[in-house]
Amino acid sequence: MYSRVLGTGSYLPANVRTNADLERMVDTSDEWITKRTGIKERRVAGPGDTVAFMATEASRRALESAGTDASEIDLILVGTSTSAYAFPSTATLVQHALGCRNVPAMDISAACSGFVYVMDIANQYIRSGACRKVLVVGADIITAACDQTDRTTIVLFGDGAGAAVMGASEEQGLILSHLHSDGSYSQLLTLPYVSTQDPAQENRFLYMKGNEVFKVAVNTLSRLVTDTFELAGMDKGELDWLVPHQANLRIIKATADRLGLGMDRVIVTLDRQGNTSAASVALALDEGVRSGRIQRGQLILLEAFGGGFTWGSVLMRY
Ligand code: UT7
Repeated sequence: MYSRVLGTGSYLPANVRTNADLERMVDTSDEWITKRTGIKERRVAGPGDTVAFMATEASRRALESAGTDASEIDLILVGTSTSAYAFPSTATLVQHALGCRNVPAMDISAACSGFVYVMDIANQYIRSGACRKVLVVGADIITAACDQTDRTTIVLFGDGAGAAVMGASEEQGLILSHLHSDGSYSQLLTLPYVSTQDPAQENRFLYMKGNEVFKVAVNTLSRLVTDTFELAGMDKGELDWLVPHQANLRIIKATADRLGLGMDRVIVTLDRQGNTSAASVALALDEGVRSGRIQRGQLILLEAFGGGFTWGSVLMRY
């Protein structure tokens, strides 16, 4: 028995924040942002766009595209680092909003690797026979976690949610997924909880030592994608689509180069969405599918890298 993606969905807030808007907020330029990151605009959550609301809307669309009723879901997993509450989890709010049965529901904190993490966990539950259908979501409101006056972070991030329904299948879907972490880099990319015990807490915002994260991300992702093919015993020439984490176009290009893949075989949403953290890979997958580029049976590689550090990949037939 394999697990397979049955359908995907997205939700993006209506508010668009362009590079020109950012020029009015901080000391930056469209030229700098475009050249260093590839980002032109991103979406910013409005008053009604909570993480749970966005996750629910993306999930509704994923259920619809999978032809699955909410009552069929056996497990709900949400990758997020910006849930409004420590508890109730975003996953339990999604369970209620969708009218799912009283199935297990939990949030997984793995920063930008959140969606790859939840896909791997769903795969284990499905392959063990414990679940037949699992709802996996990546959702984050990262723009609100940034210091609005810090040009090193505010230009990079956007908000959104992406989801997929994964189900048991006799046909091969997920071929190989593997996850990693290395906490020795923990201080290069951090997002503190606002402390209930320390009202004088100074660090409240997302912090990133960008150029150091960049170097580790490029090396790690290059190694990750080649290791994935080696472990799967497959040739990277067979790959149809790379669905990468959308942090920086230069990182995406370096990973594609390592795979010998032209950019016409890479799903890029970064230019219009920025880095949406746990939602990024899910949003890119949904865009690839809905635009008709990703077709059933094609070989797809999803990869992500984020705070922790955490990283991972999923090689699958769509
Ligand atoms: O998703 C989780 C994983 N995250 C990532 O993978 C992100 C990895 N890092 C990056 O994508 C890049 O490091 C950044 C896009 C964040 C930064 O690009 P960079 O080429 O590494 O630039 P830098 O941080 O080395 O900064 C170069 C210069 C600095 O000025 P000086 O010291 O050379 O005078 C910065 O102060 O650019 C300056 N700078 C800016 N200038 C205009 C930094 N941010 C900005 C800005 N606008 N927004």
